[in-house]
Amino acid sequence: MKPFNHISVLQAEACDHLNLKPGAVCVDGTLGGCGHARSILKLILPGGKLIGIDQDIDAVNNAESMLSEFSDSIHIVHSNFSELPAILDSLGLKGVDGILLDLGLSFHQLMESQRGFSFQKDEPLDMRMDIEKTSTAADIINEYSEFALADIFFRYGEERMSRKIARQIVEKREISKIASTRELAAIVREAMPLKLLKTQKIHPATRVFQALRIEVNSELEHLENFMSQIPDLINSGGRLCIISFHSLEDRIVKQSIRSWENGCTCPKYFPECVCGFVPKLKAIVKKPIIPSSREISINPLSRSAKLRVAERI
Ligand SMILES: C[S@@+](CC[C@H](N)C(=O)[O-])C[C@H]1O[C@@H](n2cnc3c(N)ncnc32)[C@H](O)[C@@H]1O
Repeated sequence: MKPFNHISVLQAEACDHLNLKPGAVCVDGTLGGCGHARSILKLILPGGKLIGIDQDIDAVNNAESMLSEFSDSIHIVHSNFSELPAILDSLGLKGVDGILLDLGLSFHQLMESQRGFSFQKDEPLDMRMDIEKTSTAADIINEYSEFALADIFFRYGEERMSRKIARQIVEKREISKIASTRELAAIVREAMPLKLLKTQKIHPATRVFQALRIEVNSELEHLENFMSQIPDLINSGGRLCIISFHSLEDRIVKQSIRSWENGCTCPKYFPECVCGFVPKLKAIVKKPIIPSSREISINPLSRSAKLRVAERI
């Protein structure tokens, strides 16, 4: 297999903040093109272990060949990171010293996979990261009700023209099935008022494609599920680093960290806490770390990235 091309975002920042030492056990929950994984291995060897997870079988196969020289120090798992407790259990591990998630799409998925993640290319509307999952983006576009489509575009894409776009989709699919990224991008463009098309800085289909991808892969549910299990999986002093790419993901990460740090439910006027809340993790950076202007100029896709870091108490 030809190794993946990859561009890792906030690579040095995330790896520094993981605060890893030789001998540490670390999870990379989103292996992708293995850029972060390679940097982590440099920090934890000799003696360390990396558990590398990806739900995309292409990423798993790529990692197995790219990281074959480290085979004694790495467990590569084809799974969803929301399954982390079961994965650690199967390896006999109670906790780890670091966990990294670099959410979103890999360079391979966007540019090479031909699974319809990009509106810049004409590909089948698939968008599954895990191709063993059943529903594709085409299934959703052709089968969901007009109301359900509008709801997805609004909730996951924050798309103001959601209802009009959904109506246009339903009208078009009555004539023939919508099967390709180019067809969908053209329908979205048609639904946009001219004034908006002239003023918008992003491609008109950006938000609809983001929303569909989130729905196809149940991205927010998996992230929420993962976050709810985290505190018990990190050893004392261990770190969690999460790179997110849109506000819906970042909100889940920010609110989880806040609730681990200060989830006390006592009324504010109580002189002391009586609810028994014990802080489990604390935020290491109050504001998210964002890419430098240099990184953004080299890789414009990094412009929306945000890195949040928390440490187990
Ligand atoms: C942005 S890429 C990671 C890039 C990687 N850090 C690098 O340096 O090349 C995101 C990867 O995470 C995977 N992914 C996204 N959500 C996932 C989930 N819930 N469980 C497992 N893998 C996931 C995707 O399949 C993709 O390969």
